[in-house]
Amino acid sequence: MKNLISNKICKVTVLISTLFLNFSTVKGQEKISLDEDWKFHFGHAANPDKDFDYSKTALLHKSNVFATTVVNPKFVDTTWKKINIPHDWVVELPFVKSEQVEMDSHGYKPVGGAYPETSIGWYRKHFNVDKSKSNKRFELQFDGIYRNAEIWLNGFYVGTNFSGYVGNAYDVSDYINFDGDNVIVIRVDATQYEGWFYEGAGIYRHAWLNITDKIFIPNDGIFVHSEVKGKNATVTVETTVQNNNLKNANCSVLSYITDRNGKILATTSEQKIALGIRKDITVKQKVNINNAQLWSLENPYLYKVVSVVKFGNQIIHQTKTRFGIKTVKFDGKEGFFLNGKSIKIQGTNNHQDHAGVGSALPDYLQYYRIKLLKEMGSNAYRASHNAPTPELLEACDSLGMLVLDEQRLLNSSPEYIDQFKRLLKRDRNHASVFLWSIGNEEQNIQGNEYGKRIAQTLLAIQEDLDPTRTSTYAADMANDFKGVNEVIPIRGFNYREYAVADYHRDHPNQPLLGTEMGSTVTTRGIYEKDAIRAYVPDQDITHPWWASKAETWWKLAAENKFWLGGFVWTGFDYRGEPTPYKWPNISSHFGILDVCGFPKNIYYYYKSWWTNEDILHISPHWNWPEKVGQPIDVWVNSNADEVELFLNGKSLGKKTMERNSHLQWNVNYEVGTLEAIGYKKGKKLTSKVETTGTPYKVVLSPDKTILTADGKDATVINISITDEKGREVPVADNMVKFYLSGDAKIIGVGNGDPSSHEPDQCADGAWQRSAFNGKCQVILQAGKSSGTIQFEAKANGLQSATLNLKLIQ
Ligand code: GAL
Repeated sequence: MKNLISNKICKVTVLISTLFLNFSTVKGQEKISLDEDWKFHFGHAANPDKDFDYSKTALLHKSNVFATTVVNPKFVDTTWKKINIPHDWVVELPFVKSEQVEMDSHGYKPVGGAYPETSIGWYRKHFNVDKSKSNKRFELQFDGIYRNAEIWLNGFYVGTNFSGYVGNAYDVSDYINFDGDNVIVIRVDATQYEGWFYEGAGIYRHAWLNITDKIFIPNDGIFVHSEVKGKNATVTVETTVQNNNLKNANCSVLSYITDRNGKILATTSEQKIALGIRKDITVKQKVNINNAQLWSLENPYLYKVVSVVKFGNQIIHQTKTRFGIKTVKFDGKEGFFLNGKSIKIQGTNNHQDHAGVGSALPDYLQYYRIKLLKEMGSNAYRASHNAPTPELLEACDSLGMLVLDEQRLLNSSPEYIDQFKRLLKRDRNHASVFLWSIGNEEQNIQGNEYGKRIAQTLLAIQEDLDPTRTSTYAADMANDFKGVNEVIPIRGFNYREYAVADYHRDHPNQPLLGTEMGSTVTTRGIYEKDAIRAYVPDQDITHPWWASKAETWWKLAAENKFWLGGFVWTGFDYRGEPTPYKWPNISSHFGILDVCGFPKNIYYYYKSWWTNEDILHISPHWNWPEKVGQPIDVWVNSNADEVELFLNGKSLGKKTMERNSHLQWNVNYEVGTLEAIGYKKGKKLTSKVETTGTPYKVVLSPDKTILTADGKDATVINISITDEKGREVPVADNMVKFYLSGDAKIIGVGNGDPSSHEPDQCADGAWQRSAFNGKCQVILQAGKSSGTIQFEAKANGLQSATLNLKLIQ
């Protein structure tokens, strides 16, 4: 049974600095990465002979399966493929044209029940544990495996994680072998889908071995939240301590708060607790922080809480948790407030895949992607439609991006309640998380009693585990007050922006959020519909029947106070859901940025109205030799007051920019320069597009050139094909080959072409990718030895480019 012990607010004492010194190390407590040196082999969903006899041998018959099965530690896996995780086996598979249901939405990759030979993956990993740790507690933690993962350790069944998105952790203390090899074996079954978009498959997030004392703070056993009063904040730390020893234990708990530099600001008193055998207790303690620095979009200030469990004078477990102090208010009439400041939600929806790597992103890429969205002026990220990886939340905490954190399914079975609880407990300390979502577009139940009841159950769970936040639900319903909408605190609209005002009139106190908005489909650098190659113009023109253009929804959201704001469908292109065309189109074009993160023209629409930066952007490019004398539809995205356009120095007229809009000119094409001059409060802005020469050289733009030599750090290298004068050739499609020397590897390539069937992973080590409309991308990962890496990109007939990168310890 759980006890809740409250504690008085305690003052900082002089003792603190002494405590700090003593608390800096806790021997025997470790979080060991299990990312390296795995073995991988495909199984088979329909033939046990090719599935390591999975359904022929009795793997659950007895504990510790000694037969020579695949889960036995002695099984010989030397011929299996050596891999590191994160690993997504789907990204390596070829594209397959098929009418099979779910194939298009999952990106035409051969996974699912119709492809039994590529839908089961077996993983094995060997590790050793020192005998000196035999009195410790051991836990295996998997942050995300897609999906239905059955896990064994040393022949003992450990657990099954049904979810492809919320991770889990398993106490394996009883199964550890201190005299030799320990072997984790995992069978991953991706024959069933959880979403209707590319999901990848495999152990695509990190794995850990956690070693603690047998009296310990469980994973997610800390809940830190705060209340702001004037300049000060009261921070509540709830610490759960568990006793897995075979005798009762008396110990004590305390927490202290540090600023971002590690300086102790406040500490709780030490609370004594008496723990029964295999029992846990949650201790609730409060501290005051004077002059609290609030977490905001501009200054995402993070504190740390260090929670300490002591046995006598000895520290036996200590955890560090980052958190932020902020206030959030949703108001039906006035909109959204962060720390008392009115803010419009300028959000994007996103799935979790990126060019080259599928769903197995190095942590660095999470930061890269959030940085790109933030530069555009976005302030919120909806993790549609599933639990994101913890590193995405870390990136949002650190960079100042709000997160709408979403449960995969609107379902209240024990399995999905457990998934929701795991999600809430895992993510409730993240400063960036400002709102939960209990589900998305459940057309069969959202408007009826089933949906309402399930929503009420999930809302009660959310309020219990995180009373500091509230929830929304992404409904594809218009002005309908029934089912989930009757009980949901924040009404979410997927599309149907035209109905928001009516809904507000009828329900003025229920705050309204555009959970999916806009959804213009655009192919970067393309200006005509092309049904053969399945491309759509790169302007705010084409949208599916259920959606709208950027300008349609954003004008409404920006100009009506009662809108909290909204989330565009989507920030980045993602694999799967090709729309409006199917094959050869294998990925979506909904993104404001393509799958590599290269901006499309609509990026400048949002950036004009989502930032205070001066924006003046002309599209299309000016390379139309076959269109001399013909009219070209020219768009200017800008936040200037007026813009004048010039073709080869001749004015084509000045126009006034309407707020949250764009300008258009019809221009008869001539080779040369199209220039825009913007006037913004007396300031002059200029921008131009020019007819370029032919491809001449390869140009490299790395995101960074100094990497940590930890085998995990990575960088994006963007590649442009330019003419002799260094101007990117907007139609260039040259094949570029990549060469590398030094301790690093390429882990993926991409070009943002939603119809490209070139491999993202070049298995034979001969890495290459063609440019798509002037650009392609390489993702490079550091090795472990410091030194220099030389990266070279070559294209036939073009000047090649070389880049030196540094790996440092
Ligand atoms: C929505 C759905 C999204 C995505 C989108 C495509 O209805 O919630 O997941 O499928 O449509 O337009």
